[in-house]
Amino acid sequence: MSYSHILFEADESGIALVTVNRPDKLNALSGAVVVELKDAFDRIANDGAIRAAIVTGAGEKAFVAGADISELAALSPVEARAYALRGQEAFRRLETLPKPSVAAVNGFALGGGLELAMAATVRIASENARLGQPEVKLGIIPGYGGTQRLPRLVGRGRALEMLLSGEPVTAAEAHRIGLVNAVAPQSELLNVCRAWLSKVLANAPLAVALAMEAVDVGLDAGLEKGLQFEAAAFGVSAATEDCREGTRAFLEKRRAAFAGK
Ligand code: COA
Repeated sequence: MSYSHILFEADESGIALVTVNRPDKLNALSGAVVVELKDAFDRIANDGAIRAAIVTGAGEKAFVAGADISELAALSPVEARAYALRGQEAFRRLETLPKPSVAAVNGFALGGGLELAMAATVRIASENARLGQPEVKLGIIPGYGGTQRLPRLVGRGRALEMLLSGEPVTAAEAHRIGLVNAVAPQSELLNVCRAWLSKVLANAPLAVALAMEAVDVGLDAGLEKGLQFEAAAFGVSAATEDCREGTRAFLEKRRAAFAGK
C-alpha cells in the first residue's frame, strides 16, 4: 500500500518510524489514516528486518489531536460502531506486535491520539505535550480503547478523573501518574526514543517478545493464568540459543551477541 496520510521510514538499526502526517489538521485520525496505520503495523509485524517501531505526529504542535471530528459528526450508530472496531483493530495490531514500540508524543495527544499512544509499548512525551480523553465534551465516549487502556495504565480513579472531566494533563503530570514513561525536550524526543529502543534491541529478541506477551496475557486473564503462562514462556526462553549465549557471555565476562533464535 502506498501512503498519503502517514510517513513510513525504516533505518539501518531496524527501527521503523511511522509519522501521522496531517499537520494542518493536527494529525487528526481520519478513517483513511487508520487504514494506513493498520497497514504500517502489519508491515512492521511481517518484515523481519524491522525490530522496533516509533509512532509520532508531524509538526511541533500535535502528536494526534483525536479522531477526525468532521467524520464523526456524520456517522450513524451502526457506522460509528464499525468506525470504533476498525480503530480498535488497528491499535490492537500495534499493541500485540512481538516487537517493542514507543509513542513519541510530540504535542497534543487527545482522544484517538492518546488511545494510539496507549497501544504502544511505552510513551515518551515532549515537554509541551497535553494528553487527554475529551470525548465527553463532544457527547461521545472513547471508541479506540480509551476506557480500557487508561485504567490499566493509571488506575481506575485517575482514569475516571480524566475520562469524566475531559480535561487534558500536562506532560509532567502524565509522567507523575505513569501515563508516560519519560519526558524530553521536543528537539530531543526522537533521539530519546531511539536511545531507549536501542537498549531494548541489545537484549535477546525472543525474551523481549515473551516478556511483553506474558505481561499482556496476565493483565487480561488474571494472576493465576498469567503465572501459568509465565512459567511456560520461561521454559521456552530457557530453550533458546539466545539463553545459552546470554548465560555463557555473562560467565565469560563478555557482551552477548543474540541471534534471535
Ligand atoms: N478533528 C478534525 N480536525 C481537527 C481536530 C480533530 N480532532 N483537531 C484539530 N483539528 C483541526 C481544526 O479544525 C483546525 O482546522 P482548520 O484550520 O481547518 O480550522 C486545525 O486542526 C487546527 O486546530 P485549531 O483548533 O485551530 O488549533 P488550536 O491550537 O486553536 O487548538 C486543540 C488545538 C487541540 C485544543 C483543538 O484543535 C481541539 O480541541 N481539537 C479537538 C480535540 C478533540 O476533541 N479530540 C477528540 C476527538 S474524539
